[in-house]
Amino acid sequence: MELVECDYHIESILPIERAATALAAEQSTGTWTDISTKPSGVDKRLAARVLNIEGSVATIGFPVEIFEIENIPQFLATVAGNLFGLGAIKNVRLLDIRPPKSFVKEFRGPRFGIEGVRKIVGTKKDGRPHVGTIIKPKVGLDPKETAEVAYQAGMGGVDLIKDDETLTDQSFCPMDERLERVMEKMDLVKQETGRTVLYALNVTAGTEKLLERADSAVENGANMLMIDVLTTGFSALQSLTKDDSVKLPIHVHRTMHGAMTRNRRHGISMMPIAVLARLCGGDQLHTGTARGKMDSDLEEVKGLNDFLKKDWFGLKSVFPVASGGLHPGVVPSEVEAFGKNLVLQAGGGIHGHPDGTEAGARAMRQAVDATMDGISLEDYVQDHKELARALEKWGKQVEWGDLYG
Ligand code: 6PG
Ligand code: MG
Repeated sequence: MELVECDYHIESILPIERAATALAAEQSTGTWTDISTKPSGVDKRLAARVLNIEGSVATIGFPVEIFEIENIPQFLATVAGNLFGLGAIKNVRLLDIRPPKSFVKEFRGPRFGIEGVRKIVGTKKDGRPHVGTIIKPKVGLDPKETAEVAYQAGMGGVDLIKDDETLTDQSFCPMDERLERVMEKMDLVKQETGRTVLYALNVTAGTEKLLERADSAVENGANMLMIDVLTTGFSALQSLTKDDSVKLPIHVHRTMHGAMTRNRRHGISMMPIAVLARLCGGDQLHTGTARGKMDSDLEEVKGLNDFLKKDWFGLKSVFPVASGGLHPGVVPSEVEAFGKNLVLQAGGGIHGHPDGTEAGARAMRQAVDATMDGISLEDYVQDHKELARALEKWGKQVEWGDLYG
């Protein structure tokens, strides 16, 4: 029988064997007491079963037949549902999900993947990390101002410009006009430099509106879309990527994940979120940094990025995105930790450059070039003044306590 295997960290007033059995029963064919209505043979076919226990971690297998094909809300209700509220279990954390090939094959996965995105940007050959930026301030610029900042970032050499996760279609920056003006500027960058820069327009909204926005963005020349996957839901991402009129790469932001992922003893780890984002067709996904401003565990992020990049039953790969507090000084350590298939995104680390956005983008690209050529930043600054100025301001690390304090 094919099973979806799920690992749970469990802390309970019961011995872990009993707690895991209770959890498996509650999430499939059982309940807190014996029942007389259960047909014979049902448990054999549909009951979740405890496969292994190691320390505080129980692996539970869910027969694939218990799941409706391609229905992520139903999938989550089963493997990540009521179990979090069971009184007998004090803490429980879903650590990983491992679906079998037959399950994975029901999903289309990313349309572009790392290869496809590199093809658009033209970096297949050198395989260097991509540099991205979030327009800053994240909210408050009008479409014209946004486009001007985007133009400078593009001219400075970024590969990707994205909206912030909190920017959608507010009255101070209407989406249609923003798209039109930013794409005009990206065309200009193309004319002047020959480079294609992606602009991830945040179409996040309720699903119906989101799909309308995506269609209109396609008509108006968008080359990438962005979605806040946890606030909209995985099925919204799925609807977006299954829509054949929207053949654009999708940048997936994970805002709100900290509510699920941050407590190491309870909630949902980032890995199940990454698994679902890949199944549902995200082409890029935020996974964390080695040295950034957001809470992040180096080994965990390495594991996530490896999963997104590995062969997985024929589904395309996902470009991991490192974001939050990055600046040129940390580029070597990010690339050393995660490799070249990485999007390095900097907001403050570009727009906060002492000489402005264009110089900031140049400095990030110079840091990437130095790293690719195996030259230390200290040596590279000799003839790269933008990088020199960035290092003067931020050094190779930023003490977050000092900055916010
Ligand atoms: C994004 C970022 C965001 C992050 C900062 C990044 O893509 O919008 O991941 O969620 O927290 O906005 O900006 P800085 O580079 O200035 O930290
Ligand atoms: Mg942001």
